[in-house]
Amino acid sequence: MSTLHFGDGNLQYDGQGRLRHLLSIEGLRERDLLQILDTTESFLSIAQRTVKKTPTLRGRTLVNLFFENSTRTRSTFELAAKRLSADVLNISASQSSTTKGESLLDTVDNLMAMQVDGFIVRHPEAGAAHLLARHLGERALVVNAGDGQHAHPTQALLDVFTIRRLAGPVEQQVVCILGDVLHSRVARALIHALSILGCPEIRVLGPRTLVPPEFASLGVQVHHDPRHALPGASIVYALRLQRERMESHRLPSLDEFHRRFGLTPERLALAAPGALVLHPGPINRGVEIASTVVDGPQSVVLAQVEHGLAVRMAVLSLLAGVPGHED
Ligand code: CP
Repeated sequence: MSTLHFGDGNLQYDGQGRLRHLLSIEGLRERDLLQILDTTESFLSIAQRTVKKTPTLRGRTLVNLFFENSTRTRSTFELAAKRLSADVLNISASQSSTTKGESLLDTVDNLMAMQVDGFIVRHPEAGAAHLLARHLGERALVVNAGDGQHAHPTQALLDVFTIRRLAGPVEQQVVCILGDVLHSRVARALIHALSILGCPEIRVLGPRTLVPPEFASLGVQVHHDPRHALPGASIVYALRLQRERMESHRLPSLDEFHRRFGLTPERLALAAPGALVLHPGPINRGVEIASTVVDGPQSVVLAQVEHGLAVRMAVLSLLAGVPGHED
């Protein structure tokens, strides 16, 4: 399975080898990934305080630039920036002058004229965040909040943080990712993060139309039968069925998908006892996962969201060159 490259493997790092942009997990050094996860631990407790703020990014301005809808990513980036005391501009495509034909780079140049310090960008085109990072260089930080089917690095970071915190070392996990792997930037990013952290076994499960055999080139086991993919899995990661990215009829029906692959209590029982259930959201209840599993004792989907806020605080502070938080 070929991954997308944009001819700039080191674009995430500045001339001194410092992480300046977060564009993809692919190409990230293990030590930087670990530093983000360790820094996240220090930000997690802030949410429990009455005053949920640190002065870490006081005086900085960050732009949430979203050309695709989002609930979790957009809100947690906004809250993360605000809790770090940064000023935040929220711009969504439908309310911006891109609807009048203004280009992405012209939009960014105009915002740069307002002396902003960074962009968090979600865009339907793979490579959009790379384009911005190449354009801006070291003038402003860029975080990829999801680009087409390519990458969603902060989702992978919050996923591995959740696994590490709630299940134990990634090196000891057997991870089964189930559903629409083909269209999933979440799955690609998670596979890269798990691989960098030494996960010994990663399985992908779904119908042949959504889990093509080429995925094996990423070092994962490809499965089309839950009875083979789930036994022994300590982490079961259900993906959203991305109906908006399906250009052709890859499924007979949603009901059939649920019957054959949906994560039901019976299927979850095939996994290791106490296996954790993760999902990136938004969830199609009754399609890729049954409501009883989403709301059941093995589900950690809301912990993922909580961790996502702390991960994004860590990412923003590290990219801004402020590795810890001051009280
Ligand atoms: N997981 C995720 O990216 O969710 P949103 O689309 O709501 O941001």
